[in-house]
Amino acid sequence: MQIKPLTCSIGAELRDVSIADVAKDDALFAEIKALLLKHRVLFFRDQDITRADHVAFASRFGDLEDHPVANTVPGYPGLIEIYKSEKRDHFENTYHSDASWRANPPKGAVLRCISCPEVGGDTIWVNMVEAYKNLPDDIKAKIEGLRAKHGIEHSFGAVMTTEEREELVRKYPLVDHPVVRTHPETGEKILYVGPFSTHFINYHTPENVRFGQDKTPGASLLLNYLISQAAIPEYQVRFKWEPGSVAIWDNIATQHYAVSDYWPAPRRMERATISGDRPF
Ligand code: SIN
Repeated sequence: MQIKPLTCSIGAELRDVSIADVAKDDALFAEIKALLLKHRVLFFRDQDITRADHVAFASRFGDLEDHPVANTVPGYPGLIEIYKSEKRDHFENTYHSDASWRANPPKGAVLRCISCPEVGGDTIWVNMVEAYKNLPDDIKAKIEGLRAKHGIEHSFGAVMTTEEREELVRKYPLVDHPVVRTHPETGEKILYVGPFSTHFINYHTPENVRFGQDKTPGASLLLNYLISQAAIPEYQVRFKWEPGSVAIWDNIATQHYAVSDYWPAPRRMERATISGDRPF
């Protein structure tokens, strides 16, 4: 297997390996898992695999989960369709860590390209360990111990009826997570806010808030500043898809952005999502 890092910060392409072999080869699995923790996102080209192989590869890393809004591929629990047709349904995207609105957000995902446009439709991943590391010290001090709520309502719920949205929120109420979480396997600190984050829950203290304008606007400015860090190119890798390309990412240490520049061309992907634990 050849390992080709793609940037100085994040992402490596693994060559001369089939992810179908990982299901039955413990040493290969251990090597790929270590590379994933190091590079945060790994890419494989020309994978001539089945859906069962895709699910088996992802399942080596943990249990798989479906998504309350995305369609599950019939017969393959844990595998969802990400399909943009020739219709005007290309309305993504934001930098995000998948499903941070869950109490136990996924720890990873494996995305396979079924078909994609000749040009466009790339995905960008961001190293959120680097994003945390490079924050100014005064910001690091300010956000230590801070917690933010994360919700599904204002993203996936936005195109629903009121009744549907209320049902979604009953099933997935706001959850709060640390703004700086710790990686359960590497111990690294990670900046963990994104577009699903709605507000801080413990910002309104005498140190932070002197007068009214410091409260909601002050907290929002800080939250937006933190969210904006994911857009810094030095923390990013950008991947050009081909049919048969596969990416696996650490959803704790990264965010990603599916670039929506290819309408009216269609794009069809399938994603296996690996369940995670409560952030700390
Ligand atoms: C996702 O957000 O998990 C999908 C990324 C993509 O379609 O490139």
